Amino acid sequence: MAPTQDALYRELDLDLSWSERDLPERERTKHVHRLHPYLGKFVPQLVEALLERHLPRARHVLDPFAGSGTTLVQALESRRDATGVDVAAFNCLLMRVKTAEHNLFTLERELRDSLRRLERFDGARPPRPSDYLDAWYAPRAAAELVFYRSLLDDYEHADVLRVVLARAARSARRTTHFDLDFPREPRIGEYWCYKHKRVCRPIDRAGHFLRRYALDTLRRIREFSRVRARGREAAVLHGDARELDLPGPFDGVVTSPPYPGLIDYHEQHRYAYELLGLEDRRELELGPAERGVSARAVSDYVDGIAEALGNVRTSLRRRASVVIVVNDRRELYPEILERAGLAIETRYRRHVNRRTGRRAGEFFEDVIVAR
Ligand SMILES: C[S@@+](CC[C@H](N)C(=O)[O-])C[C@H]1O[C@@H](n2cnc3c(N)ncnc32)[C@H](O)[C@@H]1O
Repeated sequence: MAPTQDALYRELDLDLSWSERDLPERERTKHVHRLHPYLGKFVPQLVEALLERHLPRARHVLDPFAGSGTTLVQALESRRDATGVDVAAFNCLLMRVKTAEHNLFTLERELRDSLRRLERFDGARPPRPSDYLDAWYAPRAAAELVFYRSLLDDYEHADVLRVVLARAARSARRTTHFDLDFPREPRIGEYWCYKHKRVCRPIDRAGHFLRRYALDTLRRIREFSRVRARGREAAVLHGDARELDLPGPFDGVVTSPPYPGLIDYHEQHRYAYELLGLEDRRELELGPAERGVSARAVSDYVDGIAEALGNVRTSLRRRASVVIVVNDRRELYPEILERAGLAIETRYRRHVNRRTGRRAGEFFEDVIVAR
């Protein structure tokens, strides 16, 4: 029988159930955590608390579904090494940019130089715009994005510029202001905007976003460089967690796996794959939204996560804790963990504040600790 709302609240871990007031957006998106939007990440303060609570002595932490790199960044902040695995190339790029130790002097020089060159750009149309660019961008916006892309190879910190370009490309799509997360088709012409409560028109430029995000990225990377521990490193592995050879031995895991039918992790950053020519491995994604939640899809998901966690287990030190954050409303994890050779040690629940985005309503998350 499903637990009542009261019972749910009784078993809540209140220390990890922050309200907007306890943990405002500014804190949840501190330094590099907001280099680029990413749907489906956990908040850094949760990782911080879980590392302290369950892995206080861990020196090297693994996240086999590392996404935008929240675990890696917080591991570096708390004097640990980290390894992150993800099957999506854009997520790996983003993680590398967040966790690398950049030469701040060169980085600033290069970003400012790229902006100076952008200012001199005459707005000529790109010679061969792709179908995707044609459909999703106004001609001037597409031309600016393609021009910025042509500069990348001139810089040592090209990957940082790639992330700036992707973020600007996300904002400059022909879509409504309130539908940046899941735009289904390009929007051309005026529309009533629920976000701004007035008539708006889709964006027709990208240059101002490139400028704003280049400067914001520089500021955020600088901010993180002041709080990360010296000498600690993060490794990012692009591949399928079911079969990658994991280097190890790791002292523990903090991860939030995908959940069936919720998010398409490649598709949410489609613009980045299109513009940057990244390799698309979406057929290896576990539980993508596009596969839905049929019995077959859920059973494949269980097989896949069990296999991935079984692979992870072989790379761990004895007695290492595996901390999993997931909203397991289908109660799949007891079986998954058993099949992966892991035993549940404790399990609790937290209330998730979902003030941002259009996904309103009560939402809970389980924290499962296994060994
Ligand atoms: C819930 S997200 C993780 C978010 C992360 N905790 C963060 O804060 O950014 C799950 C991630 O698992 C990745 N993923 C899906 N299937 C995978 C597979 N077979 N191997 C490795 N990663 C996979 C997805 O690309 C996605 O980035």
